[in-house]
Amino acid sequence: MRGEICVGSASFLAFTSLLLMIFVHVSQINTSAVPRGISLVKINVSDYGAAVHVAIFDPVDHLYTNDSSAPLEFGAGLRQFYLFGLYSHCGYVNTSAGTCTNKTVQNEFQPYAALTSDMLQNYTDLTNFLLGGTAFEDSTDSLGGSSRAAYWMLLLGTICAALALLTGVAKNNFTFFISTALAIVGAILLLIGASIWTAMIHKAQSINSVMIGPPASPVLAGIVVSVGPGLFMIWAAFVALFASVVPYMVSCCTYRG
Ligand SMILES: *[C@@H]1O[C@H](CO)[C@@H](O)[C@H](O)[C@H]1NC(C)=O
Ligand SMILES: *[C@@H]1O[C@H](CO)[C@@H](O)[C@H](O)[C@H]1NC(C)=O
Ligand SMILES: *[C@@H]1O[C@H](CO)[C@@H](O)[C@H](O)[C@H]1NC(C)=O
Repeated sequence: MRGEICVGSASFLAFTSLLLMIFVHVSQINTSAVPRGISLVKINVSDYGAAVHVAIFDPVDHLYTNDSSAPLEFGAGLRQFYLFGLYSHCGYVNTSAGTCTNKTVQNEFQPYAALTSDMLQNYTDLTNFLLGGTAFEDSTDSLGGSSRAAYWMLLLGTICAALALLTGVAKNNFTFFISTALAIVGAILLLIGASIWTAMIHKAQSINSVMIGPPASPVLAGIVVSVGPGLFMIWAAFVALFASVVPYMVSCCTYRG
């Protein structure tokens, strides 16, 4: 009976990890309620226009669009805020209406390119002038490469969690040994993926304190990068899978049917 409890708790933890990662995978693939609620990063640009106005004095017209279905990355206008997932990112004109990019495997996290590609050309040029050389602008290549690496870690970690759960069902010492090994490998992969995303978001957050405008009275650029719930879910998935290692290991060594 104690064996059953051990196997049960290991399966429960691996299942929790898998479920969390499935939710992370659906984040921002479209704008319906669940995918919309989950994101790895949020970038709120709603105050950027006012900051640009301070910097150039001229009125800032047509920087934003109110058309929630205008395609992203076609210079159709900046949205109020952007949410990023593993396969795509979405731009929102208000808390409920927005549109997403096409979904691609190894979608790259390139926040600066995502924002400037939505602006009219003159605002893209102006933004390159105002924010060029900041760590946020400079990060495009390194963030792109890191996000691709993180993607494969997270995908393989998810697959390991699923396989650990499946092999754990067979209930004999050898399959418990396989489950233990998969849980260990999966936990390591999720840990690496979570660490990379944490570091990438931290780097992008350097924009939060960037000042633009006249040197005598600069203002914050009005671009705010914050951590989305998806990142916490990846960390929780890691913890759950890591915690499943011990009961899987105990089952592996002690299970007597
Ligand atoms: C974006 O920032 C603005 C100004 O700080 C705030 O009023 C607004 O609620 C924020 N939007 C979201 C979705 O967080
Ligand atoms: C958001 O924008 C859409 C499209 O412009 C509009 O239909 C909807 O009522 C808005 N929702 C809120 C909460 O403002
Ligand atoms: C997204 O897909 C649509 C239809 O397949 C295509 O017309 C469009 O150009 C794509 N957008 C991007 C940014 O690749």
